[in-house]
Amino acid sequence: MEYFLTEQQQLIKSLARRIAEERILPVRAELDETEEFPWAIIKDMADADLFRIFIPEQYEGLGEGCFAQCVVVEELSRACCAVALTYAADALGALPILLYGNEEQKQNYLPHIADGAKLTAFGLTESGAGSDASAIKTTATRDGDDYIINGTKQFITNGGEAEIYTIIVLTDPSRGSRGASAFIVEKGTPGFTFGKKEKKMGIRSAATRELVFHNCRVPKENLVGREGLGFIVTMKTLDSSRPGVGALALGLAQGALEAAVAYARQRHQFGHPVSSIQAIQHMLANMDMELEAARSLIYATAKTIDSGAKSFTEEGAMAKVFATDMAMKVTTDAVQIFGGVGYMRDYPAEKMMRDAKINQIYEGTNQVLRNVIALELLKRKALRA
Ligand code: CAA
Repeated sequence: MEYFLTEQQQLIKSLARRIAEERILPVRAELDETEEFPWAIIKDMADADLFRIFIPEQYEGLGEGCFAQCVVVEELSRACCAVALTYAADALGALPILLYGNEEQKQNYLPHIADGAKLTAFGLTESGAGSDASAIKTTATRDGDDYIINGTKQFITNGGEAEIYTIIVLTDPSRGSRGASAFIVEKGTPGFTFGKKEKKMGIRSAATRELVFHNCRVPKENLVGREGLGFIVTMKTLDSSRPGVGALALGLAQGALEAAVAYARQRHQFGHPVSSIQAIQHMLANMDMELEAARSLIYATAKTIDSGAKSFTEEGAMAKVFATDMAMKVTTDAVQIFGGVGYMRDYPAEKMMRDAKINQIYEGTNQVLRNVIALELLKRKALRA
């Protein structure tokens, strides 16, 4: 399939592929085993200017937008979903500033995010607020020119490693989701510490940690947007970031398909390669077909976003759900094609299958996002041409 990438997009894609093949592939199994955060690779990605891609040019970025960002995430995830997630979650953390920050906040933070010197993280989820995002309990109470934050965020990607956190809290608990507000909190702010570091099934070298706020005082200048805008900031941030989750799944599935094809060609049973068996061929054909359909949907959604469309809630949710369900199936089938060795850690397929599962869960479970898609569909007066 030809997607007509520009020369610049081709260059970015090749750069990401080179980093993935030279820096990530050789260490991905070790990173999975040790659960070590991939700082050395992050540094290489920063040196290669990959963190500049989605940041506008006036803040020292490349202004390439969502499409190029997705292409990079896909290339990185083809080698390792955990490393790619660290990169994608950095964009997620930066989005509230990019979409709703004032000029001073953008000038203060975006250049540091663009040069990769400071990683970011997005803090929404709490133990009682997963799919039900408006059930958050963390509060920010106004005190003179400051706000005092209290509460705990759970399962935060890049937690502990990032320097800049965009968090969603309640400034007016009596108003529910309309009383939510977004804040920037920097690592090292007194009263802001890190709690439990999660031990996970997959994406094991990505950091997933609690953020603990105990009388954490931040200046009012750290409020993003205005009081009460936090839920909208959240929803718009997630709308923009979900194609990137689709790209994580897409790259992962691409890596699994390539591994399955290579193995099926060299594995002999009954006197011939298993790739000559029609049952295997049909599995590979379905994997290839569904993967390409996901790629088309993700790329089209990213291009819709880059075109300046105002609303893309449905498209973002569809790209995320379709691609992540596809990746779960493709990686499971890859393990099946590898047979017994597919279940062993000596081969890459089992890690890919473990890494795939979380993509159906984070950034909106695929069940909640099907509700979102159905709502968007049913509120349209006329079906699209
Ligand atoms: N854009 C703009 N506004 C939106 C919106 C959107 N996409 N979606 C909802 N809103 C508005 C609504 O219009 C409504 O506004 P009013 O109050 O003015 O009427 C308000 O937001 C509340 O909307 P709902 O009543 O629909 O909200 P809800 O409480 O029923 O929840 C939900 C809706 C879609 C289920 C939401 O809770 C949700 O998205 N849940 C999933 C949470 C999620 O994705 N978490 C991921 C965490 S981040 C993560 O996982 C990162 C990682 O580690 C990698």
